[in-house]
Amino acid sequence: MPIKIKSGLKDYTVNTATDYNFLLPFINDAFSFFVVDKKVYELYKDTAVGLIKPENLVLLDVNENMKNLDTVSMLYEEAVKIKAKKNLTVVSIGGGITQDVTGFFADSVYRGVKWVYVPTTLLAQADSCIGAKTSLNYKQFKNLVGTFYAPDEIYINTAFVKTLSEIDYYSGVGEIAKLCIMDSFESSGYFKDNLDKIAARDEAFLSEIIEKALLVKKKYIEEDEFDRGVRNMLNYGHCFGHALESSSDFRVTHGQAVVAGMILSNIVASKRGLLGSEKEQFYLNDILLPILKTKKEDLAMDIDKLLSAMSKDKKNIGTGMSLVMTDDAGKMLIERNLSREEVVYAVKKFEDYLKK
Ligand SMILES: NC(=O)c1ccc[n+]([C@@H]2O[C@H](COP(=O)([O-])OP(=O)(O)OC[C@H]3O[C@@H](n4cnc5c(N)ncnc54)[C@H](O)[C@@H]3O)[C@@H](O)[C@H]2O)c1
Ligand SMILES: [Zn+2]
Repeated sequence: MPIKIKSGLKDYTVNTATDYNFLLPFINDAFSFFVVDKKVYELYKDTAVGLIKPENLVLLDVNENMKNLDTVSMLYEEAVKIKAKKNLTVVSIGGGITQDVTGFFADSVYRGVKWVYVPTTLLAQADSCIGAKTSLNYKQFKNLVGTFYAPDEIYINTAFVKTLSEIDYYSGVGEIAKLCIMDSFESSGYFKDNLDKIAARDEAFLSEIIEKALLVKKKYIEEDEFDRGVRNMLNYGHCFGHALESSSDFRVTHGQAVVAGMILSNIVASKRGLLGSEKEQFYLNDILLPILKTKKEDLAMDIDKLLSAMSKDKKNIGTGMSLVMTDDAGKMLIERNLSREEVVYAVKKFEDYLKK
């Protein structure tokens, strides 16, 4: 790092930080508008985070149910109190939810203002901070509303990750596993060989694997920034994953749902003869089950709820459901016409795997 991301919107940079002093210039700028995850603020107020002036600060009580237009409206109300217009700088500090809400806000307020993003979850550091997507939930529809808008600057301090709950930490680990599997067998082996360092939250190792994950994602988003082709492959694990997230009323976190989603997708790939059982079992036993930390009862799936959520997935255009898979050669593909029978089969097999 730093990593430069080329974008049709504007190029932007991911920087690393070993302390919190990169915040000081923004704190000293009267036209900065800080939007900070309340939990993060409480945990880090003894650092430079605590120096943010109250009149420039809004705290967010973060959960999936507030990732919506009402929260964005509240931010407009607060932002007008600062005597800035186009020269407003939004600085957001938090995980993927904070990013999604503030990205949409920064894109729309005064038709777009400068945006600095400080990701504080592993998921946001290793995955969501690049790619320029902003998303809001609308009623029960996950990520229905959204735009493409990139931060001007991103600052990653891996020390934030230390205070994440086990499940939020392993949610981020899930997205990293996805990017390693998508990259190559070699990267999957590297992930597997370092499971102990992952469990120990080894900071030096985390910096290394975050960079690796971001570089894999960078290739996809630079080739297809607006999701018209190859970027759709990043949805590996997400078709089942999004459905599991919403059908569990978000008890299953995003990245953990993606882990379950990859297992389910691999089962379908194997049933279709695209992924051999040796590879399927390698991904299952050596990568995915060791990082699936969600309680088994939360992973119980109601087929009708799941299918109804899957059919609402905005990636399904035309008729029939499609599913991103990895094949026996490690190549990513999109398979069409996923049937109800295949979903039932995959869920049943998934439940059997959990019993082992
Ligand atoms: N825009 C994108 O490209 C993109 C990509 C992937 C996921 N997402 C979205 O991101 C969201 C998930 O992101 P997330 O997992 O970062 O969730 P999150 O923002 O909800 O954070 C998870 C939890 O961790 C807490 N937290 C944040 N930082 C912390 C820290 N340093 N220490 C202790 N606790 C901390 C939060 O308060 C929250 O309770 C989902 O809504 C998903 O749809 C967006
Ligand atoms: Zn994701």
